[in-house]
Amino acid sequence: MRILIPEEEVQRRVRSLARKISRDFAGKELLLVGILKGSFIFLADLARRMSIPVKVDFIRLASYGARTQSSGKVEITKDLETSVRGKDVLIVEDIIDTGVTLNYLFRRLRARRPRSLRTVALLDKRGRRKVPFQVDYVGFTIDNHFVVGYGLDCNEEYRNLSGIYAVK
Ligand code: PRP
Repeated sequence: MRILIPEEEVQRRVRSLARKISRDFAGKELLLVGILKGSFIFLADLARRMSIPVKVDFIRLASYGARTQSSGKVEITKDLETSVRGKDVLIVEDIIDTGVTLNYLFRRLRARRPRSLRTVALLDKRGRRKVPFQVDYVGFTIDNHFVVGYGLDCNEEYRNLSGIYAVK
């Protein structure tokens, strides 16, 4: 493994994302929706840097064939415990790759009529989209490396690393 984004750089970027998002939602309360499992560390750090009131909920999705077919199927395996109706909602994702996951979740949550629905992804593999999806707030745009650390895993290992590493 080689270091791709050191801890200090990740933390700097998370702070600046939190500042920008707090400014954009000034005077409002935001519901952060983390997609399990990868987003748990990013969400925890982002939430602590926000200067507006936030609430937190999690959703778990399973995807089948998303990496190999554009029709990759996604389903919700653990739903939110909160209603999003009429709320300002920010979907928090560790990484967007093919776009299948965020595209699916965005449409599912929009149908529940939140007041606003935005997305943040710490990492964006922009060149890999199979379905078009534009993330509102992006931490880093990266090339097509297999990445681990800061919530991201390889067979469930390495999620607890503080930096982001590319697996060779
Ligand atoms: C990863 C990541 C995103 C999704 C992005 O999750 O956390 O949710 O893949 O890929 P996509 O843009 O191609 O849909 P993963 O399925 O590895 O589950 P995990 O978060 O539980 O590790």
